[in-house]
Amino acid sequence: MLRTHTCGELRLENVGTEVTLTGWVQRIRDKGGMIWIDLRDRYGITQLMLEENQTAPEVIEAARSLGREFVVQATGTVIERKSKNPNLLTGDIEIQLKNLTVLNPAKLPPFLVEDDTDGGDDLRMKYRYLDLRRNPVRKNLELRHRMAQHTRIYMDAQDFIEVETPVLIKSTPEGARDFVVPSRMNPGEFYALPQSPQTFKQLLMVSGFDRYYQIVKCFRDEDLRADRQPEFTQIDCEMSFVEQEDILQMFEGLIRHLFKMVKGMELGEVPRMTYVDAMKFYGSDKPDTRFGMQFVELKGTFDTIDLTSGKNFGVFDAAELVVGINVPGAANYTRKQIDELTEWIKRPQIGAKGLVYVRYNEDGTIKSSVDKFYSEEDLKHWVVAFQAKPGDLMLIISGDAAKARKQLNELRLEMGTRLGLRKPDDYKVLWVLDFPLLEWGEEEGHPNAGRWFAMHHPFTSPKPEDISLLDSNDNIELGAIRANAYDMVINGTEVGGGSIRIFNRDLQAKMFKLLGFSDEEAKAQFGFLMDAFEFGAPPHGGIAFGFDRLCSLFGGADSIRDFIAFPKNNSGRDVMIDSPSPIAQKQLDELSIGVVKK
Ligand code: AMO
Repeated sequence: MLRTHTCGELRLENVGTEVTLTGWVQRIRDKGGMIWIDLRDRYGITQLMLEENQTAPEVIEAARSLGREFVVQATGTVIERKSKNPNLLTGDIEIQLKNLTVLNPAKLPPFLVEDDTDGGDDLRMKYRYLDLRRNPVRKNLELRHRMAQHTRIYMDAQDFIEVETPVLIKSTPEGARDFVVPSRMNPGEFYALPQSPQTFKQLLMVSGFDRYYQIVKCFRDEDLRADRQPEFTQIDCEMSFVEQEDILQMFEGLIRHLFKMVKGMELGEVPRMTYVDAMKFYGSDKPDTRFGMQFVELKGTFDTIDLTSGKNFGVFDAAELVVGINVPGAANYTRKQIDELTEWIKRPQIGAKGLVYVRYNEDGTIKSSVDKFYSEEDLKHWVVAFQAKPGDLMLIISGDAAKARKQLNELRLEMGTRLGLRKPDDYKVLWVLDFPLLEWGEEEGHPNAGRWFAMHHPFTSPKPEDISLLDSNDNIELGAIRANAYDMVINGTEVGGGSIRIFNRDLQAKMFKLLGFSDEEAKAQFGFLMDAFEFGAPPHGGIAFGFDRLCSLFGGADSIRDFIAFPKNNSGRDVMIDSPSPIAQKQLDELSIGVVKK
């Protein structure tokens, strides 16, 4: 090694030892008679010290020629510092320098390589290798490493076998578009990159592997957000001879293990909520349960209750749903603050038409923005429904039920944030159960528009008691079929999802039919899986966790990008290597791109 110690390990007990350190120059302070250099490596920072009368002149000269991020080798004696730095692990000592070798000079970095940097997002991504030298970014990747290690320890102890599945495969429908790869040897034909190893892990169950897992890259060509990357990592798992309860227990165990080993936290009991309740009380299938403010319906779709109609308020009369939240202690919100909230919720991203408020003042009086239509007596019924206390503010939205729920979900989260109720170090883990099997594609222009598609994926089993409804022609009945599907949600983020699978050829064929596949299409795309079901497929089920999301939650951050060494930006670009990029015509010709195979 070019060093005897790292920059993070020397302490008072090393005083008097001669050491050699290597690392990057973080900072130089030249006070004339004395020079100090902060030398940094992955393990920490150690201060080097040079003194006019103690250090050889050529070493002083070498130190004066250093710049930020030069790579150096420094030899000297460990001495006790006069003024100690309690913020550094090595802050009690410094190295009295005897020798200094520049291993490699460095250009001036485009931003400060320090915990607080002056570099903007784009610049840091372009020079990601410099960004990764910074403590906060490196720590995120160290956390990721620990998470992966502890995942492997838990899974191995539970007899799961890690099996690698192929990356060049055929499209697996998980609801997103595929990235495809042309095949030179098979002109006009393409591989697809896996959106997940779903079909392979099911085949491994048919092969008798019993318990499989893999920490695996998945690829989805979808719109990107803070918690979505085109390539991301799953902890992908599958088990045979299990029921839903077995899976919930096993993977609650994994999350419990990770909280304990990585964060030193004991996770209490993990509550469970049905999909229907999640939608009713939070307007979301991934509710943030760190705070209350559950939805209260004044004119419901789940219940027949109606506390609003017949008072000549046209907006509520015409609405399918009138629903609100009670914000504790917010009755003192000024008119200006409420107007600002109203504007916030009317922005196109959220799209509400308006916001009705009811103030339950400290003095017991009730004032609302709809006093013209509702008497104090009427509003008292609302107060009871909201279980509001004097000092609370009720915020109410109305309209089409699905839209109103979505909008109120946004408002609830915003109010939670404004009131400081969404602390990153407060963890609330939740199972959401009994998802619908099917969903109607509403979004215009989307490949799923105007047809039924699988809410989780087409291999998900309906609940046995709902199987008979698969033959129904009634859209309401089809929409009511529940699946043996579950999501794990932490602090409002979906960190994992899975299901009990279909393992019977006929049921799988029926499912494909319902999803609009002809027999030929189903056979062409998934014949291999349906064939396998005829060779002794065991009952099986599984789950996949979004590993990047788990890491960012454990790290207390919103964006998964900070936990990926080389992430893509919001346009799906890697600005460092400048990808995607055009390729030469010759390469295209070789790949027969543009040739459609009949
Ligand atoms: P699903 O599609 O729910 O299930 O994905 C599992 C988990 O992966 C994470 N995730 C993502 N993370 C980052 N960027 C993305 N683009 C992205 N997409 C998904 C989420 C999600 O909960 N094969 C099934 C699993 C199964 O049924 O066993 C599947 O992939 O945290």
